[in-house]
Amino acid sequence: MDPSRLAARLAEAGQSHLLQFWKELSPEEQSDLTFDLQGMDFQEINGFFQKAMETSSGSKQEKMDSRMEPVPREVLGSVTRDRERLKDWEEAGLRCISQSKVAVLLLAGGQGTRLGVSYPKGMYDVGLPSHKTLFEIQAQRILKLQQLAEQNHHVKSHVPWYIMTSGRTMEATKAYFSQHQYFGLDQNNVIFFQQGMLPAMDYEGKILLEKRGKLSMAPDGNGGLYRALGNQGIMEDMERRGVEFVHVYCVDNILVKVADPAFIGFCVKKGADCGAKVVEKTNPTEAVGVVCKVDGHYKVVEYSEITLATAEKRSADGRLLFNAGNVANHVFSFSFLRDVVEKYEPELQHHVAQKKIPYVDPEGRLVKPDKPNGIKMEKFVFDIFQFAKTFVVYEVLREDEFSPLKNADSQDAKDTPTTARHALMSLHHRWVLTAGGHFIDENGRHVPAIPRSGGAGSFSDDGKTNLKDGTDLPIKCEISPLVSYGGEGLEELVKGKEFQPNLMIDETGVHQLVKNGV
Ligand code: UTP
Repeated sequence: MDPSRLAARLAEAGQSHLLQFWKELSPEEQSDLTFDLQGMDFQEINGFFQKAMETSSGSKQEKMDSRMEPVPREVLGSVTRDRERLKDWEEAGLRCISQSKVAVLLLAGGQGTRLGVSYPKGMYDVGLPSHKTLFEIQAQRILKLQQLAEQNHHVKSHVPWYIMTSGRTMEATKAYFSQHQYFGLDQNNVIFFQQGMLPAMDYEGKILLEKRGKLSMAPDGNGGLYRALGNQGIMEDMERRGVEFVHVYCVDNILVKVADPAFIGFCVKKGADCGAKVVEKTNPTEAVGVVCKVDGHYKVVEYSEITLATAEKRSADGRLLFNAGNVANHVFSFSFLRDVVEKYEPELQHHVAQKKIPYVDPEGRLVKPDKPNGIKMEKFVFDIFQFAKTFVVYEVLREDEFSPLKNADSQDAKDTPTTARHALMSLHHRWVLTAGGHFIDENGRHVPAIPRSGGAGSFSDDGKTNLKDGTDLPIKCEISPLVSYGGEGLEELVKGKEFQPNLMIDETGVHQLVKNGV
């Protein structure tokens, strides 16, 4: 496209300022900028901006309280309240896995700005004794699940792993998997695809420049999934493989039960097209979205959208009335996903996130603002609940299944490498105790199973660990996912045995760790 036609298109869209430094750019920079601009549909982007701003200013004024109802008991399954059903659900899920009907889909297109590393979050090592990264832990859980399905049903099956990346994470993610030989998974069953990007804009809808010749772009939110599934041929790939259920989850939850058979089995038995895993919200002021009904449709309502009085309401059993804390962990039937991709995606609205976005000012200087100066537009993965015909909710224990990595370590931060590492090792510690093992201190005395309240390793109500950074748990215990997916199969290794507080169990055996290694 010649520059004058491009200029005319930009003028029509009110975005002429994007060419303001044109004459100062090198020929390479000019051609890169032209390439980026040619690929953009400005009418569509301006439309997204207008709608997103309208919706966000409307939702700020209006609280949802009077329109909300909690999740009814009949659509809820709970690992604590429905214990007697768990085995059934697990068997049903494992059967589907053994028939190669289950795929997993990882949302890994985020920028991880709060964690502040330059590489994809899945490559982060939270400092476990094994130094496994989040990607490696997840890959090994898939491997183990394939093994369990084979043991139980005597057929070889595969769980294809779809990994959504973005322009910012694609190359590094692919290179990392290839360097590590896909962690033992069949390369043909690890499928990468890329979500879309949208420009960051100021409050007037002008696209911001990150450099004189470069637009400021960001991934279009984890709900960008649905558009990407359609335009990257992923639905066809799933259909070809005979996938009937898809487990969708976030990269940053170190405890995630990838393709959790019990969750999948619960959804299957309920005939659900859409299931949401939740953890109990126990603190009214915790800033977590809750799954509930609004005007009769399922939705996630953010903490900022309700009054404190509603957030504090309790039911007869003493729990918060709106306690279904959303953790962006879902099971969708293939046919539901296809309907969303083919029919409903365009109806999803972008949400507005106000951010501090570095930009080039009209004088060509790079400005790093200290307060929000513009917006990024994002769709959310859970925005599609409203379209489900049979929606179910599956409640699990936070300490067993949810510990996200969001922030870098610091004194008061929540959801850090330290909290993630502790959550995993505490879970594995409990697995050893449940399987009949014991930990002893340096005097040979049994270490109490439950740490003193408020002591090292305990968590306060808002999920913050009571340990300072760098301190470690009194008992360090790590079990490879290749040995146990969810605590099973450990009796023969630990029952009736005593262990020192540094324990590692992997496929080569049971190891007592000395301070800095095995
Ligand atoms: P978050 O919203 O916590 O974002 O993502 P983030 O990128 O991890 O971190 P910040 O906000 O920049 O600090 C929750 C999950 O959704 C994915 C992330 O990779 C993570 O698994 N995600 C987020 C996407 O896949 N695409 C996006 O555009 C945004």
